[in-house]
Amino acid sequence: MTLPTAQIGIVGGSGLYDLPGLTDTAWTTVDTPWGAPSDQVFTGTLPTPQGGVRLAFLPRHGRGHRLTPSQVPYRANIAALKMLGCTDVLSLSAVGSLRADLPPGHFVVVDQFIDRTVGRAASFFESGLVAHVSLAHPTCSRLGDHVQTALGAIGVPHVRGGTYIAIEGPQFSTLAESRLYRSWNADVIGMTNLPEARLAREAELCYASVSMVTDFDCWHPDHDHVTVEAVIAALSGNAGNAKTLVAHSAPGIAADGHGPGCACRRALDHALITAPTA
Ligand code: ADE
Repeated sequence: MTLPTAQIGIVGGSGLYDLPGLTDTAWTTVDTPWGAPSDQVFTGTLPTPQGGVRLAFLPRHGRGHRLTPSQVPYRANIAALKMLGCTDVLSLSAVGSLRADLPPGHFVVVDQFIDRTVGRAASFFESGLVAHVSLAHPTCSRLGDHVQTALGAIGVPHVRGGTYIAIEGPQFSTLAESRLYRSWNADVIGMTNLPEARLAREAELCYASVSMVTDFDCWHPDHDHVTVEAVIAALSGNAGNAKTLVAHSAPGIAADGHGPGCACRRALDHALITAPTA
C-alpha cells in the first residue's frame, strides 16, 4: 500500500487527539519495523497561499488515551513519521512546572532533558549495528525559532529554553523528588519527551519539544498537589493554543530553506561505530 506523505510530523500529547482545518485528510495504518505506532497516523494538508503544507499527526497515547507513558511505542512512532517522509517533528505535551514563574497555561520551548525513566527502548541501534549520536543539543534550534516566533504572534505566554525532566510514571512525583528536581534546575516535568528526542536524532529528524504547563507538580506551598483532574482542566485551554501554534508555525517551517542543511539531518554522519561488512 502506498503511504500518504507529509513534511511535518506532530506528536500530540494528553488532550490533543486531532488537528482541525486540514484538507485531503486520512487516518492511515503504518506498519514499521518496530511494530505498530500508538495509533493510525492522521495526515492532511494545511491550506496556505503557497499551496499547502502536508502534516502528519500522531496521538502519542492513542485516541482515547489508552497507552501509559511506559507503553508508548516510541520507536514505532518516530519510524512511522520518518516513513511518511517527515523531516521535521513538533512534539507537544503536558508538563508540570518546577518554577514559580511558569504557571499553568505557559508554554516552554524545551531545549534540554534529564532522564529519570527506566527500561524504555530508546535507540534504533541494536543487534549488531552500533551508533552514538550527539545529544549535547537534543532539540533543533531552527525549529525552536519558528515555534518561538509563532507563540509570540499568537500571544501565548512562553519561554524559550528550559530543561525537561522525564520521569517513568505513571505516578506523579513525591515531594522529595519534586524538590530534588528543582535543585537540579529542571524547569518542567513530564513522562514522555526524552525517548522521542533521542530517537528523532537517530532518525535524523529535526525535533522541537513544546511543553504546555498544566500544574505545579507538588512542590509549590501555595498550590494543590497535581491531580489528573487539574491536568485535564488545564489541558483544554492548552490544546486550543497548541492547535493554533501548529497552524501558525507550519508554513514557516515548510518554507525554511535552511532545513536541508540542518545538522540534525546529518546526525549519523559521524556516529556509526560498527565496522562495515565486506
Ligand atoms: N504531566 C503533567 N503534569 C505532570 C507532572 N506534574 N509530573 C509528570 N508529568 C506531568
